[in-house]
Amino acid sequence: MSPAGPGAAEAPAKVNLYLKVVGRRPDGYHLLDSLAVFADPADRLAAEPADDLSLVVDGPFAGRAGPVESNLVLKAARLLREHARSGMGARLRLTKLIPVEAGLGGGSSDAAAALRLLDALWETGFDEARLREMGARLGADVPVCVAGRPTLMAGIGEALTPAPALPPLAILLVNPGVATATPAVFRAYAALERGPAPPPLAGPIRDVEHLAEELRLRGNDLLPAACTVAPVVGEVVAELERLPGAVHASMSGSGATGFALFRDTAAARTAAETLAERRPGWWSHAGAVRA
Ligand code: C5P
Repeated sequence: MSPAGPGAAEAPAKVNLYLKVVGRRPDGYHLLDSLAVFADPADRLAAEPADDLSLVVDGPFAGRAGPVESNLVLKAARLLREHARSGMGARLRLTKLIPVEAGLGGGSSDAAAALRLLDALWETGFDEARLREMGARLGADVPVCVAGRPTLMAGIGEALTPAPALPPLAILLVNPGVATATPAVFRAYAALERGPAPPPLAGPIRDVEHLAEELRLRGNDLLPAACTVAPVVGEVVAELERLPGAVHASMSGSGATGFALFRDTAAARTAAETLAERRPGWWSHAGAVRA
C-alpha cells in the first residue's frame, strides 16, 4: 500500500532537474525531454469507503487550489470508476502542502495519488501502465507522477523511461509567491529564440559534479519565458546559484519555483536559513531527493 499507511497516500512534489523543449505537436502541445525527480513536501490524500464521491481540501495552500469540483483528484476518481465500470464511492480529504501553480506538479501528483489510492481501496487491480494511461488523460505531468521515481520524460510527458542511477542528492525548493500559469509560460516560450538541444541524459552518472555538469548543459528552456511572465523568477534562480554548497540551480517545470541541489540535507537546510534571512517572504523547503 502507500507509504502513508492504509487509506492514505502521499503526493510528493515533482521537480524537473532539466527541461528541454524539443518540438511541438500539431495540437500545440510541446514535446519535451526532461528529468523528473520527487521530493518533499508531499500533499496528503486520505480516502474512506463511501456510497458517493466527495472531496474536502485543507492545508496551507487549500485557498489557492481552486474550486473543489474542478480538482484533479475528483476527475481522477471519476475516470478510474469509469474504467472499473463500478459505482463505488469514497470520502476523500486532500491536504495541500505543495504550492499551487508552482511548477512542482502538485495537482498532477494529487491526481496520481488518487489513482493509486482508489485502485487499492476499490480493489480495481489496474497495473502501473494502465494507471499512467489514465493519468495521461488528466494532464501531461500525471503519468510521471504515477511513476513517482526519477524518470526521463519524452513526448508531452507520457513517454517515460527510468532515469540513470543518480547519486544521493538534497534539494532546496524556493517559491517567491507568484503563480506562473503553465499555458502563459508556453505562450511566452513560443515567442523566444531557441538553441540546439543536447541528447537526453544517459548514464552512468559518476557523481554529483558529473550530474551538475549534465544539468547545466540542458537547463530549463522555459526559464527565460517564465521570467517574462514573472521577472522575480530570475531573482530566485540567481539567489539559489550563489548559496554556499549549491552544486546546481534552476527552475522546475514552468515555474515559479526554483531549486538548488546539494550533496546532503544538512547543507540544503543551512542554505535555506541563509536565504530566509535575505528573502523572508519567500516559501522554501529543504530535503532529500527521493531515490
Ligand atoms: O496537460 P496540462 O493540462 O497539465 O497542460 C497545461 C497546458 O500547458 C496545456 O494546455 C498547454 O498549453 C501547456 N503544455 C504544453 N506542452 C506540454 C505540457 C503542457 O504546451 N508538454
